[in-house]
Amino acid sequence: MVDVNKRLKVDRSLEIWRRAEESIYLGVQTMSKSPKAHAFGAFPIYIDHGKDAHIFDVDGNEYIDYVCSFGPIILGHGYPRIVEAVKKQLERGVLFSLSNENEVILAEEMIDSIPCAEMVRFLKTGAEATTAAVRLARAYTGRDKILHCGYHGWNDWYAATYRKSEKGVPKALEDLIFSFKFNDINSLKALIDREGPDVAGIIITPLSGAEPTKEFLEGAKKLAHDNGSLLIFDEMFTGFRLAMGGAQERYGVIPDIATFAKAMANGFPISAIASRKDIFANCSELSISSTYAGEILSLVAGIETIRELREKKVQEYTGEYGERLMEGLKEISCSTSMPLQVVGAPQLPYLNFDVDKEVYEDVWTLYLQEMAKRGVLVRRKMYMYITYTHSEADLKKTLDAAEGALLVVDKALKNGDIKSYLQTVAPSEPSYLSISR
Ligand SMILES: Cc1ncc(COP(=O)(O)O)c(C=O)c1O
Repeated sequence: MVDVNKRLKVDRSLEIWRRAEESIYLGVQTMSKSPKAHAFGAFPIYIDHGKDAHIFDVDGNEYIDYVCSFGPIILGHGYPRIVEAVKKQLERGVLFSLSNENEVILAEEMIDSIPCAEMVRFLKTGAEATTAAVRLARAYTGRDKILHCGYHGWNDWYAATYRKSEKGVPKALEDLIFSFKFNDINSLKALIDREGPDVAGIIITPLSGAEPTKEFLEGAKKLAHDNGSLLIFDEMFTGFRLAMGGAQERYGVIPDIATFAKAMANGFPISAIASRKDIFANCSELSISSTYAGEILSLVAGIETIRELREKKVQEYTGEYGERLMEGLKEISCSTSMPLQVVGAPQLPYLNFDVDKEVYEDVWTLYLQEMAKRGVLVRRKMYMYITYTHSEADLKKTLDAAEGALLVVDKALKNGDIKSYLQTVAPSEPSYLSISR
């Protein structure tokens, strides 16, 4: 049992991190995993293994996992049906120089599930899928400009939106992409009025903390079509999570193209674009190709994940769990007087703190620190991802942890000395940063 007054023991994590900083560029493969984004020194950095909805760090601490690898884990870690199917395939081969029937089976499963999918194409990552979707929209319309709302990956076409802080992205691309605000149809209309004839596609991540209004999604579709542009939904974390047919099923607005990845294979690396046949038919010469896109372990994991989601009605389970979690968090927020915002869809609750800018980051750091000590792993400014293996006991433990953590945050805020409650340590600088050109 962890003593909640003491700092969480993460010595082994810190030891490995020191090696990582010297051997891995920026220390991580996914920027969201950077320990500097959490509570450095008071939060785990390295996970050893996972089982169901629980993960275990290299120091032996156990957590209920609500980050779920940033969305991919929807059934649970080491979920038997997926493990068995993948093991069986592993013995038969991972990748061949010709195609494999599992590609077709997974394609058919997706077409059965997703309203806009008449055909699909597989890739490996979310960024690859959104890049393919944008290329498809540009090829179909013969136009270059993209209007977007949300995060769509690290590739150049999208990174151009934040190029000012991002070196290595060609400046010329900045003139091809423009951002509009979620749930603000007028901000999209203003862009259409300005860039209209050059706009190939409008790409939207259809959940942004809060749920989308009908006016926003339907309005975006009408604006796109009246302008001769295509509507793309980036369903990376809503796909298979909100419903079998993703956000387009839940909100009843069918886009022209959609992209998927995270929950479709319970953690295996695979992504997909889905669209209508007439759109693909007009883009038959498009060069989208990748050696690993037909890797069979992920295809098999995808097939079994989608079948399990459908057979077990997983989104009903996670939705009911999520609703109770949101209710419980709202009650705690009232009883602790913490200004906590609890929004999102039942399958994807989203938390935020409505506190002064000066203390905002520290409030999150303290909350993460206190939740980790109480055996619950969450991330700052993020959805709480729920799996089919989160249990009744997990729900109770999570709400107890949230109450304990929020009481500490509340006290720290009232005392006006939040920093004194942080048990974090200052991150070191890796030695290579002192090398000059
Ligand atoms: C909505 C959305 N689109 C695209 C991506 C990029 O996916 P990946 O990191 O697999 O390239 C992400 C990743 O978090 C995402 O959330």
